[in-house]
Amino acid sequence: MKAVQPHNRPTPLPLFRQIFEKATATGMENPNAVALSTVSPEGRPSTRTVLLKQFDERGFVFYTNLGSRKAQDIAGNPNVCLHFYWRQLGRQVLIEGRAEPVSDAQADRYFASRARTSRLGAWASRQSQPLSGRGELLKEVARYEARFLASPVPRPPFWSGFRVVPDSFEFWKQGAFRLHERLRFERTEEGWRQLRLFP
Ligand SMILES: Cc1cc2nc3c(=O)[nH]c(=O)nc-3n(C[C@H](O)[C@H](O)[C@H](O)COP(=O)(O)O)c2cc1C
Repeated sequence: MKAVQPHNRPTPLPLFRQIFEKATATGMENPNAVALSTVSPEGRPSTRTVLLKQFDERGFVFYTNLGSRKAQDIAGNPNVCLHFYWRQLGRQVLIEGRAEPVSDAQADRYFASRARTSRLGAWASRQSQPLSGRGELLKEVARYEARFLASPVPRPPFWSGFRVVPDSFEFWKQGAFRLHERLRFERTEEGWRQLRLFP
């Protein structure tokens, strides 16, 4: 059963939203870019950037190719970490949690909202597989352009999203003289527990 947050105990999402909106308001490119770390079933970590596309109380959603290394890692080990750093704000946010697949309906809706060329690109890319050169990729795009010439481009079966369901957040705020602020939230049976950490 889902724990109910006791009245007047702070929760991390409003703070995340506030910082994210501030980052977006700066006009910086890709304020939603986030480093995603995964760990293979053998315990080998890896990190790459993805774009955060949705977030709410349920979690943080990104989309990718299901044949990619990150998706393969998650299939074998759902523990992941998201790392945001907004230099312009002097803010870092770390989120740890478990990645779970989004529903087909949600992935379809998001895919349909993308530009046609991006949708064709998703079909054309066997993400993280060896590529002989740019020519091979462009040939693949042309092949799918021809295939879907007279119809909408459907979501490829190998492309979908993951929702990171957080179990901890850590907010870092740059302070003068390295006296930074670190605020941590941990999910417990009774809801979110908040604690401050030495910088
Ligand atoms: C700014 C930026 C945004 C990116 N967004 C995504 C994304 O949303 N989804 C994705 O699969 N890859 C995205 N990529 C590419 C990934 O960083 C990565 O190269 C690719 O997904 C393959 O990763 P993997 O082999 O570790 O799975 C992005 C890269 C950059 C630099």
